[in-house]
Amino acid sequence: MSILKIKGGNPLFGKVEISGAKNAAVAILPAAILASKNHCTIDNIPNIEDIHCLERILEGIGCKLERNENSLIVDSTNISSINANTEDVRKMRASYYLIGALLGRFKKARVELPGGCPIGVRPIDQHIKGFEALGAHVTIEHGAVTVEADRLIGTNIFFDVVSVGATINVMLAATLAEGNTILENVAKEPHIVDVANFLNSMGANIKGAGTDIIRITGVKELKGCNYSVIPDQIEAGTYMIATAACGGEVTINNVIPKHLESISAKLIEMGINVTEDGDSVTVKSNKEFKGITLKTQPYPGFPTDVQQPMSSLLTVASGRSIINENIWESRFKHVDELKKMGANIKVEGRTAILDGVDALTGAVVKATDLRAGAAMVIAGLIATGETRILGVEHIDRGYPNIEEKFKSLGAEISREEK
Ligand code: EPU
Repeated sequence: MSILKIKGGNPLFGKVEISGAKNAAVAILPAAILASKNHCTIDNIPNIEDIHCLERILEGIGCKLERNENSLIVDSTNISSINANTEDVRKMRASYYLIGALLGRFKKARVELPGGCPIGVRPIDQHIKGFEALGAHVTIEHGAVTVEADRLIGTNIFFDVVSVGATINVMLAATLAEGNTILENVAKEPHIVDVANFLNSMGANIKGAGTDIIRITGVKELKGCNYSVIPDQIEAGTYMIATAACGGEVTINNVIPKHLESISAKLIEMGINVTEDGDSVTVKSNKEFKGITLKTQPYPGFPTDVQQPMSSLLTVASGRSIINENIWESRFKHVDELKKMGANIKVEGRTAILDGVDALTGAVVKATDLRAGAAMVIAGLIATGETRILGVEHIDRGYPNIEEKFKSLGAEISREEK
């Protein structure tokens, strides 16, 4: 078991390189299953536990993988099984992308139901609705989803809710369906566009990703390609917020500033200095900032995945802040941990009311999920004295080399193995 130990109070200065986007990479790796010829070489893959988990899952069904630093070669030409049923599959959320990818390529899949962060009920009804509309028969038995189709036939699908997972999963299955598929009320996150670009590089015909309507013309087969994953919007947002909270000046490199606009806008509203330059953003803070009102929304709104890190910053903002969490109903589990450090927060349903305090104080706290873990790291960095964070395995699922990156900016953070 690992523990992160942080001695808070240091300002952050310097440059930090952002890694490839977790939520794009965890969809692109399963998407590589669709290539029946040649291998895919995928660059800018983040070195995180969710990716290692997917690597094992793909190898388990017969893909051949080769890792060179940040790039992965995936050869799916000789997949031997359409049955994904290991502990790794049950552990992570993105394993559900195997359903769409295997269904698209083999017209059949059996995949154990996915796990992931405990941030709310996580139904997959919209994924199932899409697969059924394409002609698949779907059953859930003994904790696994089985999908089967004689043929997949393109059609119009209107999603009832905007879902990242359902948009990507149904897009994966539809790339090899016969005829045209039109997906409406889809998610528009940067990783949706990245997955569509990856599929198009393999020979798919997908238009409109990044808008409300995606149009797919089915193709007969997909082939391997070379591709580089986009930078991680959420990791970048986390370092921006940490800099704002600790004070100092940090340039966050290898980002797409457009993807960060909703985060930059909120920091600027608080009185923090944020500037863009090419593929970097610089955050400058003198630790004086005011409270704000924040609502999480699908892209291009403020991302739910940055809500928890942002709440750590708001605990020490002057005045009152209000957060409305509109995506996940249980994404305030970190609040009890922040309260152990002296934060003044009340949660009522999906709303958190934060009254800024002068300082947080170090404590033993728990990362209850991935982004709650990032929130604890930021809280530890600004607190007086020492903070010890348990549940670090959640943080390792999504933040590459977090302690090295923060150390290089001047933070006192280290890992202890128990
Ligand atoms: N929903 C349904 N039915 C469905 C699917 C979703 O009702 O079939 C609802 C969910 O309950 C939720 C909303 O729709 O209220 C949005 O869920 P979505 O499907 O968009 O989420 P997801 O695909 O399960 C991905 C990310 C999450 C991120 C959300 C929202 C991955 C692997 N996960 O989850 O990332 O919070 O989109 O942007 O891409 C994280 O990285 O920490 C994380 C949790």
